[in-house]
Amino acid sequence: MPDRMGAIQLHAVLDTAVDGIILIDAAGIVLMFNAACERLFGYNAGEVLGQNVKMLMPAPFRAEHDGYLENYHRTGERKIIGIGREVVGRRKDGSTFAMDLSVGEAKHEGRTTFVGIIRDITERKRTEQEVRHTAARLRAVLDTAVDGVILIDARGTVLMFNPACERLFGYGAEEVLGRNVKMLMPEPYRKEHDGYIENYRSTGKRKIIGIGREVIGQRKDGTTFPMDLSVGEAKQEGEAVFVGIIHDVTERKRTEEQLVQAQKMETVGQLSGGIAHDFNNLLTVIIGNADELSDALKARPDLKQLSDAIITCGQSGAELTRRLLAFSRRQTLQPVAIDCNQMIGNMQRLLRRTLREDIEIRTKLDQSLTPAFADPAQLESAVLNLALNAQDAMSAGGCLTLSTADAALDREYTTQHPEVRAGQYVMIAVTDDGAGMTPEVKERAFEPFYTTKEVGKGSGLGLSMVYGFVKQSNGHVSIYSEPGLGTTVRLYLPVATASAADSTVDAIPEPATSPAARGATILVTEDDPFVRGYAVVTLKGLGYRVITAADGREALAHLADGAKPDVLFTDIVMPGGMNGWELARHAQQMQPGIKVLFTSGYALDTLVERGRLEPGTVILNKPYRKAELAGRLREILGAAQTQ
Ligand SMILES: Nc1ncnc2c1ncn2[C@@H]1O[C@H](COP(=O)(O)OP(=O)(O)OP(=O)(O)O)[C@@H](O)[C@H]1O
Ligand SMILES: [Mg+2]
Repeated sequence: MPDRMGAIQLHAVLDTAVDGIILIDAAGIVLMFNAACERLFGYNAGEVLGQNVKMLMPAPFRAEHDGYLENYHRTGERKIIGIGREVVGRRKDGSTFAMDLSVGEAKHEGRTTFVGIIRDITERKRTEQEVRHTAARLRAVLDTAVDGVILIDARGTVLMFNPACERLFGYGAEEVLGRNVKMLMPEPYRKEHDGYIENYRSTGKRKIIGIGREVIGQRKDGTTFPMDLSVGEAKQEGEAVFVGIIHDVTERKRTEEQLVQAQKMETVGQLSGGIAHDFNNLLTVIIGNADELSDALKARPDLKQLSDAIITCGQSGAELTRRLLAFSRRQTLQPVAIDCNQMIGNMQRLLRRTLREDIEIRTKLDQSLTPAFADPAQLESAVLNLALNAQDAMSAGGCLTLSTADAALDREYTTQHPEVRAGQYVMIAVTDDGAGMTPEVKERAFEPFYTTKEVGKGSGLGLSMVYGFVKQSNGHVSIYSEPGLGTTVRLYLPVATASAADSTVDAIPEPATSPAARGATILVTEDDPFVRGYAVVTLKGLGYRVITAADGREALAHLADGAKPDVLFTDIVMPGGMNGWELARHAQQMQPGIKVLFTSGYALDTLVERGRLEPGTVILNKPYRKAELAGRLREILGAAQTQ
């Protein structure tokens, strides 16, 4: 009875077991094959019982099996028995599967039987492989990510630090793993970090987690950099872990700052250009009238002295507005091909006379320098301004070096300076070994009226003028400065093209004095009534006949009515929809041969491409004085007569 109970229980175990159970004898003949085995191998028990167990193995194992059993019987050497291992099973349909086989040995009445327990591990193998693949993919992502990826636990201990992090922070992963993430932060963030994680854990209040923001990272060498940090939270075995993605925004910030700075300069430029334009009109009248007064007051030296003072101050004002115009890129440039080496050579005498004796002047000129394309007078003035700044920076004397070289500004440079065009330039560098500039001064040095010099010493327009001139010339200017060591300002000028090299310097005709100019008729077109009034008085005083117009339309109406002026003297910027250039074109069509003298407070109009004039165009910049007006008219009329 107990035996029967035992048999029933045994059958229950065999039939319901999830794992396959198989019994074979010493020769490998299958004695038992349970229900799970039927499911695993696809055979009915009837098809297997009494057959050799080899039928359940794929070919390579099959051949070895006899030898294996025999070897065990002879030597007792075990390979699976009592141990278990991973083998391959073969189903009825010929397909194979991975299985875990453990084999036990039973001896009964001198006969050996083997019990095999079989577990299908296909699923487990697949899961393992998936885990392996996922891990490999994740590694690949982390290793090749451009952004830094860092994993920390709830205490801030670094669990993972990818290669991008190594590059960003300058630490090897092994130096960071296991340490607190605070080591990657500068003060005061470092101090705050513990409190922050603590606060998040107790209140759940988020400051970065799930949001991301811009923070500061600290490299191994102590330097810091701005970074965009986004933090995600995950649970790992019930513990919170945080994943940080770190994007270096140094470049972006620099570009943004550069753009803001460029926009600021643009805005200030427009403002100062407008002011300068209006002031030039005022100064034309002030200086002009004072000129007249001085002439008239020859017999009263006491009073003449007063009007002479007005002229002197007016001219200082004119110099200021000239620099403002230069800064706002609204001055007239007459660029030509320039040999900068020759220009610097010629300037040396001027510099030697102008600068203090304790300033040594050196040059380092590239003998194979390409010609530059720029306005020579303005370029000289720019270099002179830089030399004066250098002198001021070397209060105890020092060395001023002027050097030239061909220079290429490449893509890398232009990504850092978005307003610059990549390409070939001619460079002039002005170097001193003086006081240098702090980063703050350097940042603002080009701004108009920015000066560190005492009141009355500097106007803060020197570098502004240089900046505006170079920009208007399609060039670029950079400052390199180390406080205490010195400064180098580099001007990058465009290279003169072959056609530009042909255009000659003497765009303005040689002054030809001709008394016959007297009595000629001048058509004055000027919208500002005071300036117009001054022009009329002055021209009449010079013996010319004068016709006036307040705008282009009125001037053309005079011509249509049959007026035959010898010279059209016109402002360039005028209201009423027609500027001076257009008026001149119409006038020359209506009256071929009419001469034109332009004047402007900007001396540049939008119609002149980047402020470059056609050779032969004559411009009288405001404010102008009687003698200048007289000279220009004589030039024009003289040239007309000699033609
Ligand atoms: N070579 C230099 N070395 C040190 N600092 C300089 C140098 N050049 C310019 N700076 C700084 O930049 C500021 C602005 O220069 P900028 O030439 O525009 O004006 P300024 O020299 O002060 O006055 P201005 O040139 O109108 O007489 C200077 O006040 C000075 O602080
Ligand atoms: Mg200066």
